[in-house]
Amino acid sequence: MKRLSTTQLKPGMVTAEDVYTYTNQLLIPKGTVLGDKAITKLEFYSIINLKVEDEFDKDYLSKPAFYEDKSYAERVKASPEFLEFKKRFDEEVPKFQNMLDNLAVNKLQLSLDNLLDFTLNLISSPNGYISVFDMLHNMRQYDDLTYVHSINVALMCNVFARWLKMSEDESKLATLCGLLHDIGKVAVPEDIIKKPGKLTESEYTIVKKHTFEGYNALKKHNAPEHILNSALMHHERCDGTGYPFGIKDNKIDTYAKMVAIVDVYDAMTSARVYRGPMCPFKVIDIFESEGIQKYDTRFIMTFLENIVNTYMLNRVKLNDGRIGDVVFVNRSSLARPTIKCNNEFIDLSAEPGLYIEAII
Ligand SMILES: [Fe+2]
Ligand SMILES: [Fe+2]
Repeated sequence: MKRLSTTQLKPGMVTAEDVYTYTNQLLIPKGTVLGDKAITKLEFYSIINLKVEDEFDKDYLSKPAFYEDKSYAERVKASPEFLEFKKRFDEEVPKFQNMLDNLAVNKLQLSLDNLLDFTLNLISSPNGYISVFDMLHNMRQYDDLTYVHSINVALMCNVFARWLKMSEDESKLATLCGLLHDIGKVAVPEDIIKKPGKLTESEYTIVKKHTFEGYNALKKHNAPEHILNSALMHHERCDGTGYPFGIKDNKIDTYAKMVAIVDVYDAMTSARVYRGPMCPFKVIDIFESEGIQKYDTRFIMTFLENIVNTYMLNRVKLNDGRIGDVVFVNRSSLARPTIKCNNEFIDLSAEPGLYIEAII
């Protein structure tokens, strides 16, 4: 192991320690094989020096193209972290389905500790280089609207709570609120849940009842208040346009407000037969144009800013075919950062005809 200045780094070297930014965000974890992109990232965040292993990564030296030629999605899918995550996820989903079904009909006693262990065990390294969001984006093969969605929302609530700098206990509670928010859907007939077209008025009335059903099922288990309220209020909106009550901002439970954001994000990025996972910048654009006043201002800003920051310095393709790197986030227009293409800076917030089509 040796300490080198960032200017001495070469592709193929392996980090021997976790590297943090000056604001204490994990930038690159220990054991990462450095490529050009990772080295640029270290320079960008003004990291002066770091410890690297004495040995180069042999795979990298023999086939360096492996790391640089693949698309972003391919790189995520090829990572050991993702493969491990996917394996556990596939194993655990049927067990969770069983648990949720039995909880809903009161055949199983509610154990919050067990549920939490189950959820957090899915993430092998919660501070990993590949974000939970990226991993979930690349796992969209399930045609399932309740069980997988609940796990996704739980994992994303866990990360979201950390972005909001909530305490350890609060983060755990947020995770459980996400996991159990749709438990009332177990009572909704499957043909309505899976109906591909638009719901009729009466079908929609039945769907909306899942909020009460969930609340009642959890109440029987004496679940904590925030968990009850998340099931009841996650479809409420701060501007009063939600259901079941149409209540506004300060009447809505804090945790239900968090779940509401993650719930919509997961629904928008979930699998559709006609497309793969939606580009996160497109999702952010929809949030911004559909009205972020529907959500708690601090929560929605923190959520969207952190998603955009994940893609800082990533290579993107614009709708006119040009390729460049995300170099500056515009806080007033998060879906439209500034892109560096060759030596030109394109401020997408000032170019209404241009947008990011894909992360590559
Ligand atoms: Fe719901
Ligand atoms: Fe949901």
